[in-house]
Amino acid sequence: MKRLIPLFVFAIILAACGGGEEATASEAPGTTPAVAEAKDIDAKKIWKIRCIACHGLYGDMGTNGAANLQEATSSLDYRINIITNGSENGVMTAFGEILDADEIEAMAKYTMSFNENLK
Ligand code: HEC
Repeated sequence: MKRLIPLFVFAIILAACGGGEEATASEAPGTTPAVAEAKDIDAKKIWKIRCIACHGLYGDMGTNGAANLQEATSSLDYRINIITNGSENGVMTAFGEILDADEIEAMAKYTMSFNENLK
């Protein structure tokens, strides 16, 4: 059963990487109404499902020119924007229609932990 998990993750990653074009500019950030209830967002889990293919477990893998997040010094706003809308060159997927605003903010903060916790 364990053997199926990497395949499953790979399938999701393929799906995530595929849809770059149509999502780019259409979704205005912040259109999701504020979520009132406190929610448990497992950023590490989302990372492993959605982000690891390009950025790697520790943020420094750099597949497809992905930014090295251990060295990145960009602001929280910049990160929220790039996660929501994807990178300008279209390589990084836009997650604005995949993750909600709270999850995107959690992921942006999570990416800021790579240079604190590692190395
Ligand atoms: C298909 C590959 C790919 C996936 C999947 C991906 N990224 Fe990226 N990411 C990139 C690339 C490429 C860049 C550099 C873009 C640029 O600078 O133009 C980048 C840049 C970033 C940056 C900006 C870093 C900086 O300060 O320069 C952040 C933050 C980021 N990614 C977070 C994430 C998160 C969070 C996820 C998962 C939800 C994710 N990425 C998934 C490819 C990817």
